[in-house]
Amino acid sequence: MQPDTKRMDMTFSRAILFSLILAKASALTNSHIAVSSPDYCYDPYRWCGPKYWQATFQYCTSDFMESQSPVILNPFHMMRNRSMGPLELLAYDVLQSEPWIIKNIRDTIAVEFNPGMYLGGANLPRSYYTFYMAFHWGSETTNGSEHIYNDRRYPMEMQIFHLVPPYQTLNEAAFTERQAVAVLAVFVDIGPEDNPVFETISRAVPTIPLAGDEKFIDPFPLRDLLPNDTSKFYQYTGSLTFPECLYAVEWIVFQEPIYISQKQYNRFIGTVYYHEPEEGEEPRLLLQNYRPTQALFDRILIASANAAVPMFSSSHSLVASLLAVLLTSLVSLLLPRMT
Ligand SMILES: *[C@@H]1O[C@H](CO)[C@@H](O)[C@H](O)[C@H]1NC(C)=O
Ligand SMILES: *[C@@H]1O[C@H](CO)[C@@H](O)[C@H](O)[C@H]1NC(C)=O
Repeated sequence: MQPDTKRMDMTFSRAILFSLILAKASALTNSHIAVSSPDYCYDPYRWCGPKYWQATFQYCTSDFMESQSPVILNPFHMMRNRSMGPLELLAYDVLQSEPWIIKNIRDTIAVEFNPGMYLGGANLPRSYYTFYMAFHWGSETTNGSEHIYNDRRYPMEMQIFHLVPPYQTLNEAAFTERQAVAVLAVFVDIGPEDNPVFETISRAVPTIPLAGDEKFIDPFPLRDLLPNDTSKFYQYTGSLTFPECLYAVEWIVFQEPIYISQKQYNRFIGTVYYHEPEEGEEPRLLLQNYRPTQALFDRILIASANAAVPMFSSSHSLVASLLAVLLTSLVSLLLPRMT
């Protein structure tokens, strides 16, 4: 009896151990985010650069249905909608219990979340589940955000991807229906101090230098990585900013940036590589992995009730001062006649 129980105990704990190892291994191979196609890259001087994407990927045509992203957040295209409700970030403040996966997917670094977080509200047509986030950065001498705000390209942009259930991959969702994807975009600026929340991600980046490399990281409440004020944002309809550039994305771009340190930024511009193994090439540093801005045409950027809508961007300040001069001279012309 005694030995039997002991043996059972041992078998049991072995089974637990084994299933734990299995769970770990399968979690790693079960990442839903695939390494991106080697048929595109961000180097403007190579055959695979953004200018040539449309040769391989038909939907990347710059004027395809006037739909492409990223865009300049041009104040002349902004319209405030005071009846638009706030963003709903469901369970964003929850600390998830299972580890997240951080992965080098060749064109960026991706962090995959566990199920349980949802995005809704604003003018989103329905509720989306939070899937993963990815980053766009510059180089030592250039900034690398995809969207441009107030004539400024920020050092970095963080994009949190959401899908309509039950889709499991971006392309499956985006090929099947419009508005199947929602992205929260956050500008990342450089500040004097380390961002302690961002450090979990930044520290892991140098450990996954090559495409396909992946690691577990400790989760944190995702809300902690967002700007303090999430009530200021712009919403517009656009596309994925990488092939297949599908037109299926509701974009929400926060007005306020978050801040990280130069050291935290340097790990992105100095330790991430991409290469085309079949060409036997040496890995190259992945730099400036952002798509050039695309025309807005007649698209509207809906500004939330609290978001700033600049009257004149700096490039139009000349027009503003000319108008002011005209008005004052008109008034001085008219005033004497009225008295
Ligand atoms: C403003 O927001 C409300 C509430 O979401 C929506 O019903 C309405 O269509 C929006 N108006 C415009 C012009 O986008
Ligand atoms: C690049 O980012 C830095 C740091 O935030 C900023 O000072 C600079 O104005 C940006 N450059 C451009 C061209 O937007």
